[in-house]
Amino acid sequence: MRILITGNLPDNVTLPLKEKYQVEMNHEDRPLDHQALITGVKDKQGLLSMLNDNISEEMLACAPRLKMIANFGVGYNNIDVRAATARGIMVSNTPGVLTNATAELALTLILSISRRLVEGDRMVREGRFKFWAPMLFLGREVTGKTIGIIGMGKIGKAVAIRAGAFDMRVIYHNRKRIAEEEEKSLRAEYVDLQTLLREADFVSLNVPLTEQTKHLIGRDELSLMKPTAFLVNTARGPVIDEKALVEALRAGKIGGAGLDVYENEPSLTSGLAELDNVILLPHVGSGTLETRMKIGTLAVKNLLAGLAGGIPPNLVNPEVLSQRRPA
Ligand code: GLV
Repeated sequence: MRILITGNLPDNVTLPLKEKYQVEMNHEDRPLDHQALITGVKDKQGLLSMLNDNISEEMLACAPRLKMIANFGVGYNNIDVRAATARGIMVSNTPGVLTNATAELALTLILSISRRLVEGDRMVREGRFKFWAPMLFLGREVTGKTIGIIGMGKIGKAVAIRAGAFDMRVIYHNRKRIAEEEEKSLRAEYVDLQTLLREADFVSLNVPLTEQTKHLIGRDELSLMKPTAFLVNTARGPVIDEKALVEALRAGKIGGAGLDVYENEPSLTSGLAELDNVILLPHVGSGTLETRMKIGTLAVKNLLAGLAGGIPPNLVNPEVLSQRRPA
């Protein structure tokens, strides 16, 4: 069987695939363009896709032999799962292994935006640090403040645990309320979205991107937030209406934002990069060496299981099993 790996992964991650199958890999640190993806997948049974590959129905129609797509990442909004299922193609993701790295980055953004870390670094490098004064360049304290976590899955819970180390009051909103015992151990209080937005000093987005979460934070939601509150997004860009965010930041409706992801990644909404009260990162929530190795290893494990006729441990469309493509 033949496999396409669309991103540049280290040898020790891909070795188990190469030992069994014929592997073609994109060795560049840039995504394959649409045509290269279509050409590459045409004769393949296995696809190890990156989270920025658009695996559309049109692309799947060009891959008549494809049996399995193992996505490198926990989010799989880049894949038309419905179309894959209809064609009998299994899809997997990589939950769990990137929880800590992503939660660490959410906290990094919270601490950095509240203490104006990037702005301060810029000021010093540009020679604008002329003297110390008691009321100059002040930030805001994190300790004791309220964090509002939207999306209380694995990553949201890991953010809550870390927020506890700063004695933060944790409120959260989720599709489903989590078990009472877990709420107790996380010291997290369930509230509706409006209450969360009104009361939080920091809002952390930890939801997957779905039809329901697209533009979950728009003009109305931003207008509920405190003028001193910070919005942190380590989930997916389209969860925020980025144009509305730029307007809110410009008008001082919220205090600032820490963004790792963008609505039209990697493009930025006009005006965003000119604002001082935002920190902008290049989608590195899972971007530690340790975690990226684990993600690769887990994606390979899923692909191997699926291609061997087994059930991939992180199958996201189990309904496909009754109709999957034969070997
Ligand atoms: C990263 O963005 C992921 O979904 O794993």
